[in-house]
Formats: sequence, C-alpha cells, structure tokens
Amino acid sequence: MTHSTIPFPEGFLWGASTAAHQIEGNNTNSDWWVKEHSTGTHIQEPSLDACDSYHRWPEDMDLLASLGFTDYRFSIEWARIEPAEGQFSNAELTHYRRMVDGAIERGLRPMVTLHHFTVPQWFEARGGWTAEGAVELFARYVAACAPVIGEGVRHVCTINEPNMVSVTAGLAKRGEIGFPPAGLPTPDEETTHAVIAAHKAAVKEVRAINSEIQVGWTVANQVYQALPGAEDVTAAYRHPREDIFIEAARDDDWVGVQSYTRTEIGPEGPIPAPEHVERTLTQWEYYPTAVGYALRHTAEIVGDVPLIVTENGIATGDDSRRVDYYTGALGEVAAAIEDGLNIQGYLAWSALDNYEWGSFKPTFGLIGVDRETFERTARPSAEWLGSLGRSRELPRRAA
Ligand code: BGC
Repeated sequence: MTHSTIPFPEGFLWGASTAAHQIEGNNTNSDWWVKEHSTGTHIQEPSLDACDSYHRWPEDMDLLASLGFTDYRFSIEWARIEPAEGQFSNAELTHYRRMVDGAIERGLRPMVTLHHFTVPQWFEARGGWTAEGAVELFARYVAACAPVIGEGVRHVCTINEPNMVSVTAGLAKRGEIGFPPAGLPTPDEETTHAVIAAHKAAVKEVRAINSEIQVGWTVANQVYQALPGAEDVTAAYRHPREDIFIEAARDDDWVGVQSYTRTEIGPEGPIPAPEHVERTLTQWEYYPTAVGYALRHTAEIVGDVPLIVTENGIATGDDSRRVDYYTGALGEVAAAIEDGLNIQGYLAWSALDNYEWGSFKPTFGLIGVDRETFERTARPSAEWLGSLGRSRELPRRAA
C-alpha cells in the first residue's frame, strides 16, 4: 500500500526564509535605499519600516518555532555591518549574533545568508561588483562576519540569487532600475564573472571561519521549458541566466534551489503565458510544479551536491491558493526524493509579508503583517505548513 506521505529524510531542514532588506526596515545605508528614493525607476514605493523585524525578530522567531518550523533562513546586512569602507560595526555584529543565538534558543536552526541583493552605498559608489577590488572587499566583509557565524550555524549562503544580481546589473546598464521580470532579461557578463569569483572567495573565508559550516549559494531557477523544436534555443537562453551559476556550485557543500513559476521558450525566445492561465500577484503563472523541474535540472548539473529548496512560494491574497500551491510543490519534492535526489531541506518564501523589491503589494507571507502596527498574524497556510514540521512527513503528489 502506498502512503499519502513520505517521512522527512534524516536531518531535513523545514523552515521559512526572509531577507534583511525586505523585513528589517530603515536599511538606510544600503544601495536600495537610494534607489527607492530616486525618481525614474520601476520602484513603486520605498521599504521604510518594512516589517520592523530589525526590532521584532524575536517575535518572528517565536511564531515560526511555535508553528512547528525547525529552520529559519535570514540574511545579515552588509550595509549595517560595514557602514563605511573598512569600518565594521561591533554593535551590528552583536545584533546579528543575538539573532543566531535567539534562533538556537527557540529550537530554530539558523541558515545565514551573507548577501541578499543589497550592498552598502559606498560599495555601489565605487562601481559595485565589477569595480577593481570588489571581490576582495566582499571576502573581507565575510571574514568580519566570523563572530556571527563562527559557532552554532550549520548552513551559510554566500550570495542569494547571483543570477538576479547579474540580470539587475544588466538592466541598470540599460538605465532601468528595479527588480527584473520573470523570464529574465540579459544578464551582465562582467557581473556574472565577478559574483562567481566573489562566491569562491567567500566560500574560502567561511571554511576558514569554521570548517564544519556547510556553505553554498542559492540560484533563481526560472524553469525554462522548451517548446517542441526549441531545445537548443532554450539551452542557450538558460546557460548565462542560470546554468553558469549552478555549475559554479559544483564544489560547494549544497546548492539552494529557488523557483516560483516557469518560462516557456519557443524558437524566438520566451513566450508569455497565455491570457487564460491563473496568475499570482506578481503576475507569474501559477505553477507549483516548478520546484520539481528546478530540483531535477539542478541535480543534472551538480551531480551529488546536496540540494536544498531555499525559497518557494506564492504571492496571493487568497491563502487557500497558498495551501494548494505548497501542496503541489511538496508533492514534487517528495517525488524527487523518492526518485533518489539528495534533497536536504525545504524553506518556504516567505515567513512574512514583506517588501517585494519595489512594493508591499505582492504578499508572499505565511504570516501577515499589519502595515501600520506591524502586528503579525499567522495564516492558516502557516499553521498547516508548520504542522508538517511536527509530523516530519511530506505530502506525496496526488496520483
Ligand atoms: C528573492 C526574494 C524575492 C522572491 C520573490 C527571490 O527572487 O530571493 O528576495 O522576494 O524571489 O520575488
């Protein structure tokens, strides 16, 4: 008899993810803060207080732990830790160490991301990732994070979605400031090479801090699907936007898979989803199957490097669609595990409704946040997803 669930593999991570700039609020020393207060961008509103998680992180962690999650992925903010070039803030390092300790005290294993899209203003002003010495500056920042990650942190992510970093840089070179659309415009090749070099340097620094840390990075997986006859076009389209970054993870301890939707590719390139398909609040096609494709595609490239789903979710105002989305997605994860893929965790995006790179409107949160009072309310999807952490069972894909 086939059971409708499969047990979590040993040590499986079960959690939710966030990023500093999207939830902390008042990240005033970051490049994004400047962009948010500039005219002529695609940014609709500034992040301002965001979810005020800089102060309210204990509440966020209390909720996640009480819901049943065992892991929490959050990022630490370079712009706070190194507010001026070469000057490190002990107060901010202590702040993030307190978060690491706070997670552990609550039974949440912290997964720490060192860079999630934002950089200090001084780093941007000197030319960003492609400027002379950028890689060394990032490596020096990573080394300075030793007090935060040195003990009790098992998983560290160097750079979140380097492919989005490169695509965003490509957009900026064309005078467009904002978060790239799904499907991804042309990445900036120079930035691609710089962030890959920065990752390799950061991996070395992290391993020097503590050789027991499992270090990797997380790649945005757009699930490029070839229409008949467009296989070569698809492979050529995908490589600079995705595969080159996955290939760079071959020597890592794990690789993060982050997928939300798919992009179909025809002989001329990406094809917009037809009008009739269901769309989420980000206007992406509702496609929970994406994660299954993303996992299998990543495994084909990295071989036996362990995979972790580090983000997966849906922006919706209808929480029952969120439950349906996660049900579909988890069925894909379970099927991939049964097929022998080495998948070591699943972290949903996102723990909270947050600042979605230009707007608060696309609500990805398992937990709703009142924009005035910052009051947190766990949605039914959060209760349900958290309860799977207690049962340690993944729902199987419906036959
Ligand atoms: C990013 C998150 C973002 C999410 C949804 C990923 O690209 O890592 O910061 O909020 O997708 O758009």
